[in-house]
Amino acid sequence: MEKSKLLKILKEKELMVSPEGLMELLQLDSPNEIIDELSRRNVLVATKEQIVDIIESNRVSQNVTQVEVIAQTSYDPIAKSIKPRLELSIRNDITGNSRCTGSVEDFVRYFNSRFDKHRRNLRGMASNVGLSSIRDVKNLLKNKESRVIAMVYDKRVTKNGHLLFEIEDDETTANLLIPKDSKLFYDASQILNDEVVAFDVYHAESSLLIGKNFLRPGRLLQERTKRLADEEVYIGFLSDLHIGSKYFLQGQFQKFLEFINGKGTAEQQEIAGKIKYISIAGDLVDGIGVYPSQEKQLVTKSIHTQYEIFCEFLKNIPEHIECIIAPGNHDAVRVAEPQPALPQEFWESVKDYKNLHFVGNPSAHKVHGLELLMYHGTSLDGIISHTQMYKDGYDHPEKVAVGLLQRRHLSPLYGEDPLVPESNDYMVIEETPDMFHFGHVHKNGYIENYNGTMIVNSGTWQDRTDYQVRLGHMPTPCIFPYYNLKTGKLNHLNFRDG
Ligand SMILES: [Fe+2]
Ligand SMILES: [Fe+2]
Repeated sequence: MEKSKLLKILKEKELMVSPEGLMELLQLDSPNEIIDELSRRNVLVATKEQIVDIIESNRVSQNVTQVEVIAQTSYDPIAKSIKPRLELSIRNDITGNSRCTGSVEDFVRYFNSRFDKHRRNLRGMASNVGLSSIRDVKNLLKNKESRVIAMVYDKRVTKNGHLLFEIEDDETTANLLIPKDSKLFYDASQILNDEVVAFDVYHAESSLLIGKNFLRPGRLLQERTKRLADEEVYIGFLSDLHIGSKYFLQGQFQKFLEFINGKGTAEQQEIAGKIKYISIAGDLVDGIGVYPSQEKQLVTKSIHTQYEIFCEFLKNIPEHIECIIAPGNHDAVRVAEPQPALPQEFWESVKDYKNLHFVGNPSAHKVHGLELLMYHGTSLDGIISHTQMYKDGYDHPEKVAVGLLQRRHLSPLYGEDPLVPESNDYMVIEETPDMFHFGHVHKNGYIENYNGTMIVNSGTWQDRTDYQVRLGHMPTPCIFPYYNLKTGKLNHLNFRDG
């Protein structure tokens, strides 16, 4: 553009530009878009770096939005002729139900709800000793045993090396000691603050209780066999797409979309043909302002554009595949859990697609007769950093998932990862799921059968970020797990290199 013309536009826009920035703008045929963006950002003096950043961002944004629409092929998937059987949000879904105002009463109601739900579970467990409240157990005769159900308020190691818990129920509190030479010591040291457990105790002296055993609410009363569907259909799992991030692996995701449309090898066609459901467990987009300096990692800094791209991908999922979509901590809903479903303003362009279902995080659904529990997995950060037992949780997220099932709670450690104190604790796992799908840690992890539950972490479609390099995390991008609902076999396809 001619210099005089450019200077005139800048004057009209009341925008000052550094000499280097001006040189950059002069090289453009049409700098209007860049100038508009600079005005929108309210910069005092536009620098060369800011201008280059906008040029670069626009260029990539234009490329990334060009999602190929996959043409119909002669491919005829078996799943198309199978009637979908989907009951959405049968449990745990906060969408439309949030009543929390953050008052003190809300917190009281929240912890009461958590305590009551767990107490119901724990009460049903067999015991050789009677069940008492903390108040009654304090009056027990010396050395007489009882079971007490309590929430752990605090936990510490005494200077003599014993484990000391401060426990509470809805009436009072007590101190409970696990001696350092107890066989229970290591397991008990993995109990998290705010967990609700049943302790078998005896009364030693003064008001001190001694723990002999403890049970978590997820302990099974009898061996649970895996439930299966009567038709051979598959469910596939996705999470952590992080669309909008410069690390989103669009080419590989495009390959996945081709696969799902029957454009893969003969073997892949057979797999794709049986996929009837897809569960997407959050971090659909990278979002804006989720962490400091995130803008440097983004190819598009508009949240709406990020979701537009996501919706373009969704349009490429064949309509016979029912797709359940929950948010994560990067999505445009409140960051604190439980999170409601993504608002329609972000998926306006797919609102007429009857096979796309937006749900809350967490939420549970009936899929072909089996219960699917979806949870993004944000609580894993706090649990991994606070529990010795799960210190390898970023490499083996499935082990942490077992811990959540044993605790029957998706975010047992209150205060580490943001939770909204709703009067009903939506994070309690009230019914044992047949499938537990989560994400967040960007690492695939599977247990095909944990006491009848299939556990799957679906990894990510984002490449290793600078942040993950700094933390030493090794993600497993572009691995797509899928589960045969009839045989109970879990498998995966790797789209990383091809
Ligand atoms: Fe993520
Ligand atoms: Fe996440």
